[in-house]
Amino acid sequence: MESIKVGLLGLGVVGGGTWKVLARNAGEISRRAGRSIEITRVAVRDLAKARAMLGSAVDVGTDPFAVVRDPSIDIVVELIGGDTLARDLVLEAIAQGKHVVTANKALLAKHGTEIFAAASAKGVMVAFEAAVAGGIPIIKAMREGLTANRIEWVAGIINGTTNFILSEMRSRGLPFATVLAEAQKLGYAEADPTFDIEGVDAAHKLTLLASLAFGIPVQFDKAHIEGISQLASEDIKLAERLGYRIKLLGITKRRSNGIELRVHPALVPSSSLLANVEGAMNAVLVRGDAVGQTLYYGKGAGEEPTASAVVADIVDVTRLHTADPEHRVPHLAFQPDAMADTPI
Ligand code: HSE
Repeated sequence: MESIKVGLLGLGVVGGGTWKVLARNAGEISRRAGRSIEITRVAVRDLAKARAMLGSAVDVGTDPFAVVRDPSIDIVVELIGGDTLARDLVLEAIAQGKHVVTANKALLAKHGTEIFAAASAKGVMVAFEAAVAGGIPIIKAMREGLTANRIEWVAGIINGTTNFILSEMRSRGLPFATVLAEAQKLGYAEADPTFDIEGVDAAHKLTLLASLAFGIPVQFDKAHIEGISQLASEDIKLAERLGYRIKLLGITKRRSNGIELRVHPALVPSSSLLANVEGAMNAVLVRGDAVGQTLYYGKGAGEEPTASAVVADIVDVTRLHTADPEHRVPHLAFQPDAMADTPI
């Protein structure tokens, strides 16, 4: 069978990781996907840097629309971030009948309803495992493993940068700015780290989890958001003396009058599971009526953990693409009547 052709947009931290993981584990990945997977075209800003990484086997250019419109490409992997150019590219890829894999939570939190509707009308898939909680397969767990459940609530640590900052401030007594710079160097932080420290990135992810959990449209503008920028080292020390750790939590819960959607710092008892999630790790608790409480834990940011999720989506889309189109599973299905406008 012919290989599946992937066009990659962006070769930053996650794009570079995706290239490396696909190359390193090519044999196993192709066996699991049922076909070999090839990145054949890449669009980047810095050609010299890209050629040094990719060699001459791949067609590298600076025009992402040329990749999206290339008839030989089956899957477009969008890793450029932002919500303007990325929106145009993703919508164009869908219009061209291509499947999309993206790690872009800001894009989906803002334009998800439009993007998923366009994909559904065109019969293509938009997969976004890497958009939430880095390497933890939380989207697949909720979409597949927990699909029998009525989800009651989802809560957790879903931003690696802020968890890293809070952990390092507490354990090493380092100042906020020093730890933030370290998080940026390690590739955890967003291009604009304000999104991390003000809770916006966590709210983007929580919005997507709420859509999956409750079948509601993506409604980022309804989320209550508070970040960690107002916290001082003294707050962290005082919390510790009282037997607590401060964690930035994202919480979404079914209530009788709507869906709660909130991100804010919280005091968590030091002996609890969430308090002991340290560094750039993420942890998500999901409660379903049949299964009870479940916990998903792992690296929530960084090059290869996020690439692990991107590649998993490429494999997933390859399998479904190869199957009869009528049996494809939608990646995000809304129940239009399900408390659509009632987040509180
Ligand atoms: N900036 C994000 C974080 C990257 O720190 O969690 C992963 O989504």
